[in-house]
Amino acid sequence: MSRLAVLDNLQNRTPLIAPSLLKCDFGDLGGEIGRLERAGAELLHWDVMDGHFVPNLSYGAPVIESLRRRTRLPFDAHLMISEPARYLDDFLRAGCELITIHVEAVPDPASLLRRIRQGGAAAGIALNPNTPAAAIEGVLDECDLVLVMSVEPGFGGQKFLPSALDKLRRLRGLMGETALLAIDGGIDPQTIGPAAEAGANIFVAGSAIFDADDYGPAIERLRRSSLAMTEDRSQLTTDN
Ligand code: DX5
Ligand code: ZN
Repeated sequence: MSRLAVLDNLQNRTPLIAPSLLKCDFGDLGGEIGRLERAGAELLHWDVMDGHFVPNLSYGAPVIESLRRRTRLPFDAHLMISEPARYLDDFLRAGCELITIHVEAVPDPASLLRRIRQGGAAAGIALNPNTPAAAIEGVLDECDLVLVMSVEPGFGGQKFLPSALDKLRRLRGLMGETALLAIDGGIDPQTIGPAAEAGANIFVAGSAIFDADDYGPAIERLRRSSLAMTEDRSQLTTDN
């Protein structure tokens, strides 16, 4: 599928729940993907860590590539690595439909975002909790997705930082109604509503899904909580 077709497809199906494969059973990644697909996951979020940009290690392009043929769900590689330029081609070859780099990691994000698009993938830019929205305003035209971190990157299971909400509001205002705006970190049935209300339309969730015995109801609960908020908002708009 072309980049634009992938984007069209994702935009038409928002709000999307994107399980983060950081807290899954690494001994059975293929099985986990099957379970997530049957449970209604819509986008798989791969947290790539290099022990340098963040104080943790996870997996790299070869692991993602070996799982590509297990599912048709789109893959988003969230690169929490210091030198994304060095590895971009590997993630493109691995078959990631979206590749998200951190603005803090590179001096010239625009050129990397262009490289991702030229490679046929959709380009995402991520911001750490302490990075202001202004840091990416200049590259919004070069990217297809913005990912706001609502925890310090590196580990799953942390508490949602409410300061992310103002950043989401500001970015939604700049990006227009339908653009892909993701929130990542501490998303659960309580925090997803305020994040949706603030403008997020992709919700990355690790613990809220993987700590549950059954992924289906956990994903459904998240989806319902995000929709409840979005519907309340459209109801308010109609009432006015
Ligand atoms: C953190 C990662 C997140 C995170 C999500 O560095 O980017 O994707 O693991 O996990 P929870 O939902 O447990 O915060
Ligand atoms: Zn992530």
